[in-house]
Amino acid sequence: MRTEVLPVSAASLSRAASLLRAGEVVAFPTETVYGLGADALNPQAAAKIFAAKDRPADNPLIAHIADKDALDELVQRVDPQAQALMDAFWPGPLTLIFPRTTVVPDIISAGLDTVAVRMPAHPAAQALIRETGRPIAAPSANRSGRPSPTTAQHVLADMDGRIPLILDGGACGFGVESTVLDLTGNVPTILRPGGVTYEMIQVVAPDVRVDDAVLQPLVEGAQARSPGMKHRHYAPRARVVVVRGGKEAVAGKTRDMYDDATLMGRKTAILCAKDMASQYDGRYTHVLGHGATAMAAGLYDALRALDDENMDLILAQATETDGMGLALMNRLLRAADFDVIDA
Ligand code: TXA
Ligand code: MG
Repeated sequence: MRTEVLPVSAASLSRAASLLRAGEVVAFPTETVYGLGADALNPQAAAKIFAAKDRPADNPLIAHIADKDALDELVQRVDPQAQALMDAFWPGPLTLIFPRTTVVPDIISAGLDTVAVRMPAHPAAQALIRETGRPIAAPSANRSGRPSPTTAQHVLADMDGRIPLILDGGACGFGVESTVLDLTGNVPTILRPGGVTYEMIQVVAPDVRVDDAVLQPLVEGAQARSPGMKHRHYAPRARVVVVRGGKEAVAGKTRDMYDDATLMGRKTAILCAKDMASQYDGRYTHVLGHGATAMAAGLYDALRALDDENMDLILAQATETDGMGLALMNRLLRAADFDVIDA
């Protein structure tokens, strides 16, 4: 299959919408990461997403909608708290988990009795959903286990020859996937942190909590509330180690580890915030920008770039876990498969 890459335009959107209506798979930009879309109400189309990504069948998909009315056929009920969350954060990077109706194909929910729904803020994503006239199921447009794509070039690197069309809308703003908030338990629970932060949600839903699996590995045998949490994710080919502690201690430990690994002939890179870069003079550093928001926006591009340079080891600096820092640390820890060194 030839994979076309077209800039977002009225013509390319309408081509993408007809492909989607015909049961094909199309990659498109959102404000978080690129999505791999298919008609969410067509199980055969959704199956093509799993095939193109090599995604395990037990990992459910998010249904993307452009209007709140589209929610009614997908979910059993919208309680006042869910309504308040939607009013506050939709459209935007917040995915909500509801009890589902039978309209939602089993393949979308991976057999669960719930469905994840999000209303993206990106104008191209909204236009595509409207023009298709259906909810669009879309996971991130990477091959399973690779970092999520934040540019059309990342999508092409993973999907060339596997899908007919990629809509190119430039780099994604947030650069990490949406916050996933489960509304089906006793208290709203963040299963995956993202652009709508814990602190923001707390204003609307004061009892919100963060699932243990966000910053810790799942205990052996424990049931993952979000199936995505049990799969190794966001992983580059290099070994990633997160170095945690006070600034001076982290800098010292990182220098030592870098110098040891380099002596052993291992190609090593340091992934750090802008204000730390001067600590590593003469060593290979990839600077992620200043502050958690900028660092999160550049993280997946950095992991892909370091893979292209065939790194053996990436030493990543831990960050604070407030605001966007929670999403950043969650993705770093998962890229590292929870390999953390306390400096
Ligand atoms: O920002 C995003 O959310 C992007 C863009 C394309 O919208 N999409 C995305 O999809 O990241 P995906 O499939 O890569 O991640 C969806 C996550 C997975 O961890 C999955 O396990 C979880 O949401 N999920 C989906 N449906 C669920 C459900 N019914 N219950 C619990 N977790 C669910
Ligand atoms: Mg994904």
